[in-house]
Amino acid sequence: MSSAPKTVIIGSGLMGTGIAVVYLTAGYEVTLVDVDEEILKKSVKNIKNILEDPSLFGALKHGSSNDFLERVSTTTSLQSAVRGSVEIVTEAAPEVLELKIRLFKELDDFCGKDVILATNTSSFKISEIAKEVRHKERVVGTHWWNPPYLMPLVEIIKTDYNEDIIKKVVDLFTKKLGKEVVVCKDSPGGIGVRLQAALFAEAMRMLDENLASPSDIDKVVRLTVGLRYPMLGPFQIADLGGLDVFLQALEYLAQRLGERFTPSARLARYVANGLLGVKSGRGFYAYQQVAISEIVKRRNKALLEILKLQRAEDLSNYFLANDSNSSS
Ligand SMILES: NC(=O)c1ccc[n+]([C@@H]2O[C@H](COP(=O)([O-])OP(=O)(O)OC[C@H]3O[C@@H](n4cnc5c(N)ncnc54)[C@H](O)[C@@H]3O)[C@@H](O)[C@H]2O)c1
Repeated sequence: MSSAPKTVIIGSGLMGTGIAVVYLTAGYEVTLVDVDEEILKKSVKNIKNILEDPSLFGALKHGSSNDFLERVSTTTSLQSAVRGSVEIVTEAAPEVLELKIRLFKELDDFCGKDVILATNTSSFKISEIAKEVRHKERVVGTHWWNPPYLMPLVEIIKTDYNEDIIKKVVDLFTKKLGKEVVVCKDSPGGIGVRLQAALFAEAMRMLDENLASPSDIDKVVRLTVGLRYPMLGPFQIADLGGLDVFLQALEYLAQRLGERFTPSARLARYVANGLLGVKSGRGFYAYQQVAISEIVKRRNKALLEILKLQRAEDLSNYFLANDSNSSS
């Protein structure tokens, strides 16, 4: 009998397949569950393609894809998949709340009390998905990003019930799966999806206002705001730009474009107290003069590298303009 730890993934679509690759390369036995055999066959084929993709050599753990694939099994029966000693089940079925509620109720009935039940939901609150689960303490959100085998971070969602398993889940993801994690409170969209949704919603508003075309808005994101994000998050960017400048911009945008831009009371308080970011030595972070010049030097160096990569891999050539975008 194999001594490899066991995991079950429900839904072998885009995310389930990618998540399976991560567990396989971390030494797990993976059981994939889906609604029909053809989908499962396709998923195993995709796993093989990912493991054998030469462009990913070096990024994924080395080894023969056959050795990895020996540890994959598939089934359409949820109950038989979770039989035996399973460490964690990951639900990656479609984003339909009623479906997820039903699947978690079944998992609660079928799984031993120690099995961690994780959902990869993008937007739903974990407590809503777990509303019919008796042992809510073992339900957690593990929000992976696509492609799971390359994206470095998984958001771990803490609820009112699962405090006791959070450390175990964090250890699993950081020590066994090699991921960075951030633990986030249970809230619609977690952190990343909510930020991405805010940007997308604003981009759609601009399109509806006929302000610019999708390709022009995409271009502005890629060559301005987006270029900084590989190195800096929004609070670091605001500290570098000056919190007074950001406050003034938000106040004006709120007056002209609407309440959604209203600056937070915290930002106004920071500015009133002289916390302006790097220029005053404190903002969301604390700075020493020497570190500031180092940050700027390193940011510029990284920016040049990213610009080089962007020029070499210009994906915009693959996106053709769609004339229907201009019709209201
Ligand atoms: N696509 C992304 O970039 C992304 C990123 C992060 C999180 N997510 C979330 O991950 C989940 C899956 O998304 P996806 O993009 O992989 O979807 P997908 O449509 O590619 O895959 C879903 C799979 O679930 C299967 N399925 C449907 N009903 C099922 C059932 N009752 N039992 C078992 N399997 C069932 C489908 O046949 C399909 O193969 C969603 O909750 C989504 O919001 C998606």
